[in-house]
Amino acid sequence: MYRTRRVRASEALRGLIRETHLSADQLVMPLFVRAGKKVRAAIPTMPGQFQFSVDTLAQECRQLKELGVPAVLLFGLSDKKDARGSRAYAKNGIVQQAVAAIKSSVPELLVITDVCLCAYTLHGHCGVVGSDTRHKTHFYIDNDASVEILAKVALSHAKAGADLVAPSDMMDGTVGAIRKLLDAEDFDRVPIMAYSVKYASSFYGPFREAVDSAPQFGDRRSYQMDPANAEEALRKARSDVEQGADILMVKPALVYLDIIRRVKQALPYPLAAFNVSGEYAMVKAASARGWLQERPVWMEMLLAMKRAGADILITYWAKDAARLLREE
Ligand code: PBG
Ligand code: ZN
Repeated sequence: MYRTRRVRASEALRGLIRETHLSADQLVMPLFVRAGKKVRAAIPTMPGQFQFSVDTLAQECRQLKELGVPAVLLFGLSDKKDARGSRAYAKNGIVQQAVAAIKSSVPELLVITDVCLCAYTLHGHCGVVGSDTRHKTHFYIDNDASVEILAKVALSHAKAGADLVAPSDMMDGTVGAIRKLLDAEDFDRVPIMAYSVKYASSFYGPFREAVDSAPQFGDRRSYQMDPANAEEALRKARSDVEQGADILMVKPALVYLDIIRRVKQALPYPLAAFNVSGEYAMVKAASARGWLQERPVWMEMLLAMKRAGADILITYWAKDAARLLREE
């Protein structure tokens, strides 16, 4: 009789047959940066996460590097907003300052920047709002006008010293436009991590509170993907590959493990999974009530993302995970 339990009898045996391993090498820690000095403001919707000013951010980054986290993903909070998100590509913008500070104090740490407009526009959309004179009640997001601005944002990040740029806007053609502009400006060595398969998800709520980027009217469903679709995910990821994406991403992670698997099988490219704010907040809330144990739950979540096919894990538990992996 075949007994499946024979190889589960001891930790040594279980280790011998283990198929998936977490490694600190592939963790990315998302971080929030805002104006000010000596700021380390707790984010109420994301317990354990903070808004940092540039100085405290650099300290945090040094600690992350020491713990073995190889990369951070930066999000900026903008105190000045306008209709077109022009502070997103300001030379002395918050992200640009942060990148420069991190690269000068912890040069070995990879700095990835989120490229989007939603934290910089008054209306909170990821692109610019067009005016449709025929349908006054409807608004739409002007794809090509947005792409032009987003490419400038990516270039400004590269000029500040970003190691990778990560467009999260979900317009069509952003990856190609960024690649073209970066190449023309002598930044051909900067890779693009494309938020290729980003769903119009309700799991982003805690994050939008953290960076003040919620849309002031309408929603993001005309540019982010319908949670009902999987084949469309493959078309979108393939399109980003054709435009020059170096690394692909699926976001959120946990209710889209099937998508992670399918993208990985269809396209032989490095794949990142973004374990988003809502996935983080749920576990934090339940563990604060004693209903779940936080650590084993997130370990299981990160392992599931890997098992599904993700190479890179973008997670608010990156620091905790690196610490744990080091202890082990
Ligand atoms: C902005 C952006 C969002 C996230 C990453 N970049 C929010 C959104 O699209 O509304 C979500 C991250 C998270 O929830 O952890 N384009
Ligand atoms: Zn956005």
